[in-house]
Amino acid sequence: MKIAIAADHGGYELKEKIKEYLESIYANDKDVEILDIGTDSDASVDYPMYGKKCAEKVASGQAQKGIVICGTGIGISIAANKVKGIRCALCTNEKMAEMSRKHNDANMLALGGRITDPDTALRIVDVWLKTNFEGGRHKRRVDMLDCI
Ligand code: RB5
Repeated sequence: MKIAIAADHGGYELKEKIKEYLESIYANDKDVEILDIGTDSDASVDYPMYGKKCAEKVASGQAQKGIVICGTGIGISIAANKVKGIRCALCTNEKMAEMSRKHNDANMLALGGRITDPDTALRIVDVWLKTNFEGGRHKRRVDMLDCI
């Protein structure tokens, strides 16, 4: 599995923490690769570009999951959701992360670097990555989303 991760300057610091965390937990798992799409510093950049780039990796199948971070998580999630096939869920707690996978089959997670503290963010990432889609009636609804 490839996990793409991107942020603007408002999410840069949290991106680095999440990347370091994922690289450490998957250090012995050669099947998991983290693709860092930038940004590479806290210098001001435009979040739509990073949301789009990360979403395109997921939509094209070059990555199976995507994580995007801006100051609030709002702008970059809006950008990601404009790419066909993307279901990007902005989550501020573990319950939202769990339900975004179980019911919405979210293929991208958005976080707010200025909203969510790093420890909570890592727990959200953990839950989001380990929770599976429930399918069933939720599959019909997700299919409907993809037709919009
Ligand atoms: C950048 O200052 C900020 O607007 C951005 O990170 C994000 O919060 C937008 O939604």
